[in-house]
Amino acid sequence: MDLGLQGTKVLVTAASAGLGAATAQRFSLEGALVVINSRNLDKLQKTATAINEVSGNPVFTHAGDVSKPEEAEKLVKNAVSMLGGLDIIVTNAGGPPAGTFEAFDYEAWRNATDLTLLSAINLIRAALPHLKESNRAAVLAVVSIAAKEPVDNLTLSNTIRPAVVGLTKTLSFEHSKDSIRFNSILPGITDTERIDHLMQARAEKNNSDPATERENAGKMIPVGRIGTPEEFANAAVFMCSPAGGFINGVALLVDGGAAKGTF
Ligand SMILES: NC(=O)c1ccc[n+]([C@@H]2O[C@H](COP(=O)([O-])OP(=O)(O)OC[C@H]3O[C@@H](n4cnc5c(N)ncnc54)[C@H](OP(=O)(O)O)[C@@H]3O)[C@@H](O)[C@H]2O)c1
Repeated sequence: MDLGLQGTKVLVTAASAGLGAATAQRFSLEGALVVINSRNLDKLQKTATAINEVSGNPVFTHAGDVSKPEEAEKLVKNAVSMLGGLDIIVTNAGGPPAGTFEAFDYEAWRNATDLTLLSAINLIRAALPHLKESNRAAVLAVVSIAAKEPVDNLTLSNTIRPAVVGLTKTLSFEHSKDSIRFNSILPGITDTERIDHLMQARAEKNNSDPATERENAGKMIPVGRIGTPEEFANAAVFMCSPAGGFINGVALLVDGGAAKGTF
């Protein structure tokens, strides 16, 4: 299937590793011009080189912390200038720390809100005037299964992530006049560095090893395993593509069937 992404101008944030990097790579393989972002320039440049080697298409970089409003704004501005416009933005960031309610003070809540909610708001605010100029504009927010179903010990994520889904749903109505589609994507357990750390922590707690914990986590998922970043990226890129042009205002779970709610 041709996704219609040839020459599309795309910004993927938090994309030197994990879900963001896999998404950027899929866009690039589909012929898009891509800007990737993360805080660490060295890591970012290595990822850009690796993507360019497999896709043959240019991949631009801009280092910055998306939880800081001025850096998010600068990132979008520079991405637009490197790409010569903007058609698609995928808002992504690192996840807030794990822990229960009493583990977090006001500052921790503030930081998690900056990272998880305000980063998406600031990126979209900066991108909007440019997306209005595009005839294939789409915004995709990377969220989490925690937006649908609270996950044990992820109080910050369980609380703040649903707001991002509310944001994209609202904008899908507000900006229908500009023909911009807004969706969110809710990954379940997917095999990235973040999950390596989680499995390591579980192994230490349960006196086992990370491979056993990974296998046990997979057994809890109806498809019998945890997901791959490539599977996540395939769904993410399709949602943003002209081929998925009738998908709007959706919060899509990509979780192997892990969430138990009917809707
Ligand atoms: N993997 C899963 O199973 C899963 C499930 C549900 C939700 N999620 C959520 O999906 C998002 C991506 O997860 P992942 O598994 O891909 O994580 P990951 O493998 O840890 O990668 C995180 C990426 O984000 C970048 N980053 C972190 N904080 C940033 C910031 N403030 N500004 C810019 N870039 C930043 C990191 O690079 P630098 O360190 O260079 O900045 C890295 O490229 C997270 O919010 C995570 O909580 C993941």
